[in-house]
Amino acid sequence: MPVLGFGTLIPDAAGTISATRDALEAGFRHFDCAERYRNENEVGEALEAGLAAYGIAREDIFITTKLWNTNHRPERVEPAFEASLKRLRFNYLDLYLIHTPFAFQPGDEQDPRDKNGNVIYDNGVTLLDTWRAMETLVDVGKCRAIGLADITLDKLIRIYESARIKPAVVQVEAHPYLPETELLEFCKEKGIVLLAFAPLGHGIKPGPLEDPVVLAIAERTGKTPAQVLLAWAIQRGTALLTTARTAARARENFNISALPEDAFDEINHIQTRQRFNQVVNTGVPSFIPKSSLDGKSKQ
Ligand SMILES: NC(=O)c1ccc[n+]([C@@H]2O[C@H](COP(=O)([O-])OP(=O)(O)OC[C@H]3O[C@@H](n4cnc5c(N)ncnc54)[C@H](OP(=O)(O)O)[C@@H]3O)[C@@H](O)[C@H]2O)c1
Repeated sequence: MPVLGFGTLIPDAAGTISATRDALEAGFRHFDCAERYRNENEVGEALEAGLAAYGIAREDIFITTKLWNTNHRPERVEPAFEASLKRLRFNYLDLYLIHTPFAFQPGDEQDPRDKNGNVIYDNGVTLLDTWRAMETLVDVGKCRAIGLADITLDKLIRIYESARIKPAVVQVEAHPYLPETELLEFCKEKGIVLLAFAPLGHGIKPGPLEDPVVLAIAERTGKTPAQVLLAWAIQRGTALLTTARTAARARENFNISALPEDAFDEINHIQTRQRFNQVVNTGVPSFIPKSSLDGKSKQ
């Protein structure tokens, strides 16, 4: 799996197509998708055209997508996977993730709510039930690896211990304000890749992009703050996903080189702690714009 990944959580269709194409041109070969982003069609369209235009083979790119919370029932896993595959226009996936450990009421409504506006969870399925159905997808050769996202260490350990096919990847928010050190240590010990999302703190300011330590290192190493944060993530042994909507930023974010050891240590010693995305606590995505949360799924 290429350590530098491009995230496709982009709210509009035209922006998805141009950003995906720009990322491919900049050199990204790892693309992170999700049925919940409701733009797998556009990512598939951009990748199909881009691979043809730049003469890149399918085997040379790494594609991930994710099973949404409303599809945790075992009988819904394979149909959800097949629907994603069709929208993305591929015949296999490199990685399929359970998007969150929270099961929502099964059905086409991706954000099921009761009359008081509370999420309707599904207590009739366990995470292990869903994991077993994910394992079957690997057995039949439809995807090469499976993993989990937005998971805490205790939940990961429970799945790890019961799994026949161990999680290959764990995708969680991670940056200097949320280093997830304990989770990273467990992953390294077990040979699981920790795939960091929001390595730039989702671009939120104030945040890691404006941290004085990061700004000072950027200044003295001649890198941009984003390049400093992405280099740090790779140097500590995580893979990462970053999202940029312009070609210039895609090139900037792909052009990463190692930090001097002292700079790496200074970032490790940043004390600020902040989680930007609460999805890990509820299963409700907080980076997907409200307009995309309303209404029915576009499956
Ligand atoms: N599993 C999950 O629940 C989950 C949750 C969130 C995200 N993800 C995945 O992780 C991916 C990345 O997450 P993220 O979007 O939070 O990543 P991020 O790279 O930390 O944040 C992206 C934001 O940073 C800005 N940015 C990008 N490059 C920049 C640069 N060089 N300098 C300054 N600002 C820059 C972008 O602005 P512009 O858009 O204006 O370029 C955008 O607002 C998502 O696309 C998605 O695939 C997964």
